[in-house]
Amino acid sequence: MRDMKFDTIAVQGAHKAKDNRHCIPVPIYQTTAFDFDNVQYAADLFDLKASGDIYTRISNPTTQVLEERIAALEGGIGALAVSSGQAATMISVLNIAKAGDDIVASSTLYGGTFNLFNSTLRKLGINTIFVDGEKPEDYEKVITEKTKCIFTEMIGNPKLNIVDVEEIAKVAHRHGIPLIIDNTVPSPYLFQPFMWGADIVVHSLTKYISGHGNSMGGIIVDSGKFDWKKSGKFPELVEPDPSYHGLSYTETFKESAFIVKARGQLLRDFGSCISPFNAYLTLLGLETLHLRMQRVSDTALKVAKYLQNHEKIAWVNYPALSDNAYYPLVKKYLPKGASSIVSFGIKGGAKAGVKFIEKVKLLIHATNIGDSRSIITYPALTTHRQLNDEQLRACGISDDFMRLSVGLEDVDDIIEDINQALN
Ligand SMILES: Cc1ncc(COP(=O)(O)O)c(C=O)c1O
Repeated sequence: MRDMKFDTIAVQGAHKAKDNRHCIPVPIYQTTAFDFDNVQYAADLFDLKASGDIYTRISNPTTQVLEERIAALEGGIGALAVSSGQAATMISVLNIAKAGDDIVASSTLYGGTFNLFNSTLRKLGINTIFVDGEKPEDYEKVITEKTKCIFTEMIGNPKLNIVDVEEIAKVAHRHGIPLIIDNTVPSPYLFQPFMWGADIVVHSLTKYISGHGNSMGGIIVDSGKFDWKKSGKFPELVEPDPSYHGLSYTETFKESAFIVKARGQLLRDFGSCISPFNAYLTLLGLETLHLRMQRVSDTALKVAKYLQNHEKIAWVNYPALSDNAYYPLVKKYLPKGASSIVSFGIKGGAKAGVKFIEKVKLLIHATNIGDSRSIITYPALTTHRQLNDEQLRACGISDDFMRLSVGLEDVDDIIEDINQALN
C-alpha cells in the first residue's frame, strides 16, 4: 500500500472488493461480537497470538480499513480509531503517562484539549506544563526527568500558529521522549508529521477526514519509530503487563508496541470505540479528502485576501498570507495550502462581532471546522467561554476574534455573504 500515491490510498487503500463478497465500498460490519469458530482460535485471540476480531469495542473489520487507510496516508505502521478526537488525545497521553508524570504542551491548543490537560489530567495526577512561546527552546526549558511527551498541534486551532515540528522533534528526542502532533487541521493531505520526526499523530476524524459534519471520530497513528525500550522512561511498555497475561509490549509487538497497548489495554478499559457506521461514514468522506483539502485551502486564501482589503475589517490572520508571521513555516511544511480556517476581527470589536454573526445567511453559526459547509464561530462566546481572560490570551483569542472555516461552496457566494453581513 505504501507504493500507491496519496489519492489512490484515500479511495482504495486496505480494501479489495473480491475479499469482501465483491462489495465495492467498504461494508458496514454492524455487529457487537464475532463467532469464535473453535475453542483454540478463541484462546489464541485472547492471548493476542492470533489476529482477528473478538468484540467491536476492541476491533471491527469496517474500522480496521479506516485504521489501515489512515496509517498508510500518514506513513505510520498502525492506527487506532476511537469515538472522538478527544478520546484519541486522551488515550495517546494515558498510554505513556501516569500519576506523577509531566507532559509538555503548547498553550495554544484547541480549547477542549486545553481543558483535558489543564483540568481532568491534573485530577488524575498528570501535570501539564504549558509552553507560552513557540520556539523549540521554549519547550526544552520546561522538560524535566518526569516529562513523558511533548504534545502540540501542527496548525493551532484557533490561533492558527504553526510549529517548527522538525526542531521540536529534535528537542523531544534529545530528552528520550516522543513528540505527539495533533494533525487535525492540516489533515495528512496537507502535512505528514512523521516525515519531519514526529512519533505519534492524533486526529479528530470529526473534522476534515470525514469532512461532512455528520460523524464523530478520532484516530491515533503510530510511526513505529520511537524506541520505547532504549528511552528507559516507559517501563509500562517494556515490562510485563499483568492486565494482559504478563506480556511485554515491546518484546512481543516490537515497533508496534505503542499502538497495540493503546488498543489492548486502554480501548479495552475505557471503551471509547468508534461505531462501525461512523467508521463507514468517515471512509466515505476520506475518499475525497485530497479534493476537499485543496479546495478549502484555495478558498480560504481568497477569502483572507478579500478580508484584508475590506474597510470594516480590523485584522485578518491566515498563515498562507505572505505577510503572516508563520508564512516561512507554511513554505517549509505546507506547500499545498494552509487548510480552511481564517480568523479575523471586525472594526467595532465584540459588539460589531455579535451583529455580524446575527446577519450572516450562508455561513452557519456553529462550533465546528472541516465541514463541507462554511461555518463561523465566535470562540470567546462559545468554544472557549470556559477559559478566563488570561487563558484566552494564552490561546491567542481576543474578544473580537471570529473563526471562519470555509466549506465547499462557491467562493463568490461566501464572500458575498460576508460582505452583506458587514454592510
Ligand atoms: C485540533 C482539534 N483537536 C481535537 C479536537 C477534538 O475533536 P472531537 O470534537 O472529535 O472530540 C478538535 C475539535 O474541535 C480540534 O479542533
